[in-house]
Amino acid sequence: GKVAVLMGGSSAERPVSLMSGQGVLEALCGQGVDAHAFDPSERDLSDLKREGFERCFIALHGRHGEDGTMQGALEMLGIPYTGSGVMASAIAMDKVMTKRLWQSAGLPVPRGVVLHRGALAVDHLPDELGLPLIVKPAREGSSFGVTRVTEPGQLAAAVALAAQYDSAVVCEECIVGEEVTCAVLGEGAAARSLPVIRIQAPGGNYDFEHKYHSDDTRYLCPSGLPEAEETNIQHLVVQAYRVLGCRGWGRADIMIRARDRQPFLLEMNTSPGMTSHSLVPKSAQAVGLSYEALCLRLLAAATL
Ligand code: DAL
Ligand code: MG
Repeated sequence: GKVAVLMGGSSAERPVSLMSGQGVLEALCGQGVDAHAFDPSERDLSDLKREGFERCFIALHGRHGEDGTMQGALEMLGIPYTGSGVMASAIAMDKVMTKRLWQSAGLPVPRGVVLHRGALAVDHLPDELGLPLIVKPAREGSSFGVTRVTEPGQLAAAVALAAQYDSAVVCEECIVGEEVTCAVLGEGAAARSLPVIRIQAPGGNYDFEHKYHSDDTRYLCPSGLPEAEETNIQHLVVQAYRVLGCRGWGRADIMIRARDRQPFLLEMNTSPGMTSHSLVPKSAQAVGLSYEALCLRLLAAATL
């Protein structure tokens, strides 16, 4: 039956989603799937029903795509979709809620505080969290609105920037060490991790430019981490995925603290990037799962 690749959308990550969607669309069409691009910011969602789409591949990122709202709309329309359901999507989009659930499950997360628009006082933060610290919007992706603050004088501007993206701002201790990411496929007891990817961006600065445009970022997969460390991270990520109730796929971003090699969970992406620079396709490739096969597998697991 007809498949809609949902791409574009109206979030700050629209340009990323257009790249992800284009990749997915080409892969599915190349595999003989009757797939069509559908941009919810330009179309009426009820057209999905009217035009006979039987399944949706969600290649949207951020608000109104990855946050449970689109998932809810598709539930209402009765059209199966890829990835996590309404609740897991909504929780994972929100770094505050995600950290609460992980913390209550005993999983390691950086120490942090949440500020709300209208109460953005920052003077106490360096004493509480130390420097450097990371300031970011609670619900955003692709590094939009994120600042690494190294001096107290930068804090107010960093918080104001993050507050442009969300009414809630997360300030957390900066874990100094190595950045890694690890994807999970499947659901519940059957959820399995892919290999860990170690990310080496110039100057340790894996920002928007180094995520999508620069070819200077190095991605190590196999990660080259000691086997016990790799296995430990994979185990941690599968737990993190299950705690949030994710299904289909997800990708957790992690920092390994240099001084004691302790991994800290930063966040879970429930609609990970599928661009030519993106990470889930790289780790799938490392276990012999091609981009095309990955897309087909995610689509086959589409559900309500
Ligand atoms: N938010 C981007 C798309 C990612 O995590 O891949
Ligand atoms: Mg993210």
